Amino acid sequence: MNILVTGGAGYIGSITTIALIAAGHRPVILDNLHNASAGVIERIAEVAGTRPAFVHGDIRDRALLDALLVREQIDAVIHFAGLKAVGESVAQPLSYFDNNVHGTLVLLAAMQAAGVRTLVFSSSATVYGDAPELPLREDAPTSATNPYGRSKLMVEQVLADLARSDPAWSLTALRYFNPVGAHPSGRLGEDPQGVPNNLMPYIAQVAVGRREFLSIYGDDYPTPDGTGVRDYIHVMDLADGHLAALDHGHGRPGLHVFNLGTGAGVSVREMLAAFGAACGHALPHRIVARRPGDVAACWADPTRAREVLGWQASRDLRTMCEDSWRWQSNNPRGYAA
Ligand code: NAD
Ligand code: UFG
Repeated sequence: MNILVTGGAGYIGSITTIALIAAGHRPVILDNLHNASAGVIERIAEVAGTRPAFVHGDIRDRALLDALLVREQIDAVIHFAGLKAVGESVAQPLSYFDNNVHGTLVLLAAMQAAGVRTLVFSSSATVYGDAPELPLREDAPTSATNPYGRSKLMVEQVLADLARSDPAWSLTALRYFNPVGAHPSGRLGEDPQGVPNNLMPYIAQVAVGRREFLSIYGDDYPTPDGTGVRDYIHVMDLADGHLAALDHGHGRPGLHVFNLGTGAGVSVREMLAAFGAACGHALPHRIVARRPGDVAACWADPTRAREVLGWQASRDLRTMCEDSWRWQSNNPRGYAA
């Protein structure tokens, strides 16, 4: 299939593009490079052996989308493009609703006009809000605790209404838990701008000497070792999940919602120890106050994806840390190196 990959120069999109090429699809990347570097396209070409088509542009540009969907004879869209920093979304809600919600509306309208009716959307476990019960199943109540989360929830609601409006649509929302790791080649991985917000990239920068120590945000949570527990999923497993969702969704009407997680929780201390083992030295850390808005624990029930998509995560914590370390140690300054 000819697949439009919005945000395909980003962390998850670039690695999924490689998986699409390996599966025989023809990806076309649309990315405004707001949070990515053009050099990523070269890296994809190098690893995949085929250069994906790349359009430097914005999902909010309706004229560009209209032309692109027709010219490239797009069959389906995987929609990664968006902004994803929770703290920034609190400070700049309008740009989050503009990129994530308005951007998706423009994309969907262009798809409707062009007769492209298959979409796979990057949603997030954040739509479960402060979940009362674990593990999280797809039918758990949803809510938002910040503008980023609200933007994901709003898009899911739009997708539900659209699916109800016309049975030609096949819309899939994938709720990612905590994506980590890198491509095993060490050529593609996560390259956050500025100080990393998330645990794994922060630890990786401590390991490579860019940061002095990890601040552990609280060790008095009601978890086995007192630190926060999350469901970390290898980005390669996530990429495979997109292929499975595409195969399942194409030609199958409705809104399909799946958790993409492992089903297992890992604490901050466990992650730090596993990364230390991968890089060969213990990593300095300090316990500091809890981060406002954090939940104690969050992990998925991945049963539906296993039963319906035939997909499950297969890469363990050690592989996540080893692949992340290979990427970080080979590219200490990310794509800028
Ligand atoms: P990323 O920032 O690396 O990738 C997003 C890409 O979209 C970037 O390359 C950026 O330049 C591009 N982009 C942003 N706005 C755009 C626009 N208006 N037009 C065109 N391109 C635009 O992020 P990622 O980690 O790869 O995340 C991909 C998607 O998955 C996002 O929608 C994110 O919200 C979602 N998600 C990510 C995580 C995570 O922890 N990484 C967790 C859950 C959900
Ligand atoms: N943590 C630290 N120190 C750090 C960074 C994180 O101790 O420097 C801890 C957090 O307190 C938490 C755990 O590591 O216990 C994971 O934190 P992340 O920021 O990596 O991940 P979150 O689960 O908090 O948030 C992520 C995304 C959000 C998304 C959410 C749910 O960043 O965008 O998953 O999908 F909303």
